[in-house]
Amino acid sequence: MTTIAQKAPYGVDVEAGKSYWWCSCGLSKNQPFCDGSHKPTHFMPLEYKAEKSEKVWLCGCKQTSRKPACDGSHKQL
Ligand code: FES
Ligand code: FES
Repeated sequence: MTTIAQKAPYGVDVEAGKSYWWCSCGLSKNQPFCDGSHKPTHFMPLEYKAEKSEKVWLCGCKQTSRKPACDGSHKQL
């Protein structure tokens, strides 16, 4: 089971061409990014490469089906 980091997305400014590692387990203290806390679990972070420099909304509840983006699933929690 994933841990719900928060029931809302995190708005982050990403840079074109840069890679980010989205926390899929919900345990990271550096949300929405991985800080290595998944190690005792079977979860792995998901690499996300920004195509352009913009603000994106990354899932904080970890229940999205459009990882790493928020798809509104947090509203059901
Ligand atoms: Fe959650 Fe790494 S800390 S995937
Ligand atoms: Fe997870 Fe919106 S924060 S779906």
